[in-house]
Amino acid sequence: MTKSFKRTTVTAALIYANGPIHIGHIAGCYLPADIYVRYLRATGQDVKFISGTDEHGVPITIKAKKEGVTPQEVVDKYYGIIKDSFEEFGISFDIYSRTSNQVHHEMSQDIFKRIYEKGQFSEETTEQYYDEKAKTFLADRYIIGTCPKCGNESAYGDQCERCGSTLSPTELINPRSALSGEPPIMKATKNWYLPLDAMQPMLEKYIESHPEWKPNVLGQVKSWLNDGLKPRAMTRDLDWGIKVPLPDTEGKVMYVWFDAPIGYISMTKELTDQWELYWKDPESRLVNFIGKDNIVFHCLIFPAMCMADGRFIVADNVPANEFMNLEGDKISTSRNWAVWLHEYLREFEGKQDILRYVLAASAPETKDSDFTWADFQTRNNSELVNIFGNFVNRAVVLTEKGFESKVPVLGALEEIDTNVLNELAAYPQQIAEAIEHYKFREALTLMMEVARLGNKYLAETEPWKVADPLRKGTILNIALQISANLAILCEPFMPFTAQKLKEMFGLSNVNWSNAGNGKLLAEGQPIKNLGHLFTQIDNSVVAAQVQKLEDAKRQNLLAGKEVTAIKEEIQYDDFSKMDIRIGTIVAAEKVAKSKKLLKLTINDGLKERTILSGIGEHFQAENIVGKQVTFLANLAPRPMMGMVSEGMVLMAEDKDGSLSFIQPDKQVWNGAIVA
Ligand code: MF3
Ligand code: ZN
Repeated sequence: MTKSFKRTTVTAALIYANGPIHIGHIAGCYLPADIYVRYLRATGQDVKFISGTDEHGVPITIKAKKEGVTPQEVVDKYYGIIKDSFEEFGISFDIYSRTSNQVHHEMSQDIFKRIYEKGQFSEETTEQYYDEKAKTFLADRYIIGTCPKCGNESAYGDQCERCGSTLSPTELINPRSALSGEPPIMKATKNWYLPLDAMQPMLEKYIESHPEWKPNVLGQVKSWLNDGLKPRAMTRDLDWGIKVPLPDTEGKVMYVWFDAPIGYISMTKELTDQWELYWKDPESRLVNFIGKDNIVFHCLIFPAMCMADGRFIVADNVPANEFMNLEGDKISTSRNWAVWLHEYLREFEGKQDILRYVLAASAPETKDSDFTWADFQTRNNSELVNIFGNFVNRAVVLTEKGFESKVPVLGALEEIDTNVLNELAAYPQQIAEAIEHYKFREALTLMMEVARLGNKYLAETEPWKVADPLRKGTILNIALQISANLAILCEPFMPFTAQKLKEMFGLSNVNWSNAGNGKLLAEGQPIKNLGHLFTQIDNSVVAAQVQKLEDAKRQNLLAGKEVTAIKEEIQYDDFSKMDIRIGTIVAAEKVAKSKKLLKLTINDGLKERTILSGIGEHFQAENIVGKQVTFLANLAPRPMMGMVSEGMVLMAEDKDGSLSFIQPDKQVWNGAIVA
């Protein structure tokens, strides 16, 4: 841990360019990485922050197929959306590139060739599923069949989305190709494998040298190692990806998890001529930020590749996070259960820091966490507005009123002053320590404590009540110094707020080494009041977001429904047996002890009849009296709940399950026949 480094490469997972990004991605990977990098930069360290999109692999081809476009069109579209939203959100990559770039293809092929030439791959011929009609081998995702665990008839070859089981394609019952619908055949194919089994001792040594890694990461890695690593194919029979640089390999590309992490190296090369220093010098440090689903690839497979190649350093840490849920439910792209970053940026213009703050405060650092809009509102209103913003605002406004917006002279210090300044001085080191140990929630809490400290100081010294201008000025000087310190301390978390604070206090050229200093601002220095840093978020704003999620849920439900097939043919006589009529509901009441049933009294033109109708969960009795309805008049009377129902009211069921009465389009006489 005491090992010192000359430079650091920080990477954030190369996300598949097959959809926009959501809060789960940010909280899990990009925001912690950005906080870390901003902190390293503020301490004057040499750091490169690398990321981009992963543009190969089956997920891209599936998306293309679904949208009826080419894979290239998919990646072009999402690369743009993703890059722009990261930028606007203040994720401060030094480069955000893509694995479709030429440099990347060349680098991947170079590494592949080198591992091949060193004799580090094993070659194996295996039988794989093949679609004879589409003339192609089938990736696991492209094989559909019945799940052996739950009976779902459209489970994928790698996973059943209904019961969540991980599957292998040979486990599927009645497998068929997603391309042609035909049952696939088995066909022999040669592929190149990384012999992870043989490499296990080396990898174990590597992992054992890092007892400081996060427990959630070590836990997963050790369970893989305990199960025993198996050789893993680094090539695939697929037409989308990086060509295998060997003769007679037509139709074969690299496994996406072979080329993707090489993207970290190739993107560094795109960024700087000095790239080799960052990747080859043992005094360089590599830190990979990822989500938990990427752990095995970054902690075992990519290091194995680097070891097999022999030229590159391996990660010093892989601070993976767990998952963030949304309103108690797993975030899901396909179910549209997500808060999309590009939508947030549009709907909450200029409010990047609120989301950054909330996501950092509830990041899934040690276990899964939950984002709720109610929490978003509370954290904004009672933390950012009431504590942080309010403190700075009071200091600035009181200075404006009493001291012409100039930093007042610091007079003799009382005990309370020295105490607060001493406390302030201790924070930067504590925050730094937390960040260096990847404890970003803790770091954020400590940063907020500085604002709390300031608030408490003002509450206790009450400068607004102090008559002596020197004493009053001294208090405000100190309050302003604390505020100015916040500009430095909050920067990794809330860079937009930090920028505004720096403008207010005329701070340029300050960095982490200035933090803790109680004399950051010179006496007489002008202060600019740029207004409140944060404003309240109303209930209506939060309600609208919750509504949006509920709409998405409903849409989803609807999307899964199809119009049922028409029933078997009947003759006119079958139909004419039914006596369908119009009547008016003259009374309605709930049936005691039944949730569903309403007792309707219907005027059918001849008499009043009772119909018990199972619409109680959809309508309030008092709201339907007076409605004309369509009913089946000659249905044999049925005893129900101690009453007799004489007929049946006809309803149309909408896609979402809601019910609607069938009404004539003008008022007709009761007893009118429907035929
Ligand atoms: N594309 C992968 C995902 O979204 C992540 C790849 S990270 C890298 O899960 F290591 F391959 F770059
Ligand atoms: Zn299943």
